[in-house]
Amino acid sequence: MARDAYVNGRYVPHARAAVHVEDRGFQFADGVYEVVSVRRGRLIDEEGHLDRLDRSLHELRIAWPCDRRVLRLVMRRLLERNGVRDGLVYLQVTRGAAPRDFRFPAAARPTLVITTRRATLAPHARTGVRVVTIPDIRWKRRDIKTVGLLPQVLGKQEAAERGAFEAWQVDEDGFVTEGTSSNAWIVTADGALVTRPASHDILNGITRQSILRVAAAEGLRFEERPFRVEEAYAAREAFLSSATSFVTPVLRIDDRTIGDGAPGALSRKLFDAYLAHASGAGAS
Ligand code: PDD
Repeated sequence: MARDAYVNGRYVPHARAAVHVEDRGFQFADGVYEVVSVRRGRLIDEEGHLDRLDRSLHELRIAWPCDRRVLRLVMRRLLERNGVRDGLVYLQVTRGAAPRDFRFPAAARPTLVITTRRATLAPHARTGVRVVTIPDIRWKRRDIKTVGLLPQVLGKQEAAERGAFEAWQVDEDGFVTEGTSSNAWIVTADGALVTRPASHDILNGITRQSILRVAAAEGLRFEERPFRVEEAYAAREAFLSSATSFVTPVLRIDDRTIGDGAPGALSRKLFDAYLAHASGAGAS
């Protein structure tokens, strides 16, 4: 089946889809993005992702490229055209194309690119993954989902080279901020779920927010507070969350085995509860 992308109002063959060489996304990483997972034709947590897109755009003073309703329609249309029922939608909005100048252009129209891809979601959720820790070298507005992802590119590459799936970034005080493309969680020895609170230090994951809601509905005890690498080493369980990995157990951090080295009971329970959420409530 042919695969199309959507670029600035047009459906174009994916292989020929392009933006201008002076697009500010290319020149300055002056843009934002979202990744929305699609399961059995449903967009998981779509409104949460669009709300965060709205927030990211607002924080960078980039205008919406089109009406929000249009965006919802185009995502569905593109998924249909490309025959994607399980996979993901990638949305990117930049400040637009303009002669290279750091200052905002007076009259650029935002660039909108939407692509879809078939993918197996959360492929390691049943088996678990390894993570390594690395220093967090990012800027101070990690709450904005910008396409400026070089620290994460380097971090994920280092993880791969060290035989791990993800790298957990660590701040100057020794506390874990988050993964390069996921949020970080632990379960303490006495069974409390812990994840770092939303602030400028992390991206407030849409999956993270859904997991917190699911945990509250299940009556689970959780604490939103920073945790140190040493606390994570000693945790009963650890896992990571994102739109594409849902709840994925972490079995090793650096050279330490977490718990008994198998996916933990709470992680498995949260994965199942999240899957139920992704299949119905909160999805559309
Ligand atoms: N990454 N933290 C960072 C730095 C991220 O890049 C992501 C998502 C998350 C989790 O957010 P959410 O639950 O909304 O996916 C946390 C996406 C999946 C990516 O860049 O591919």
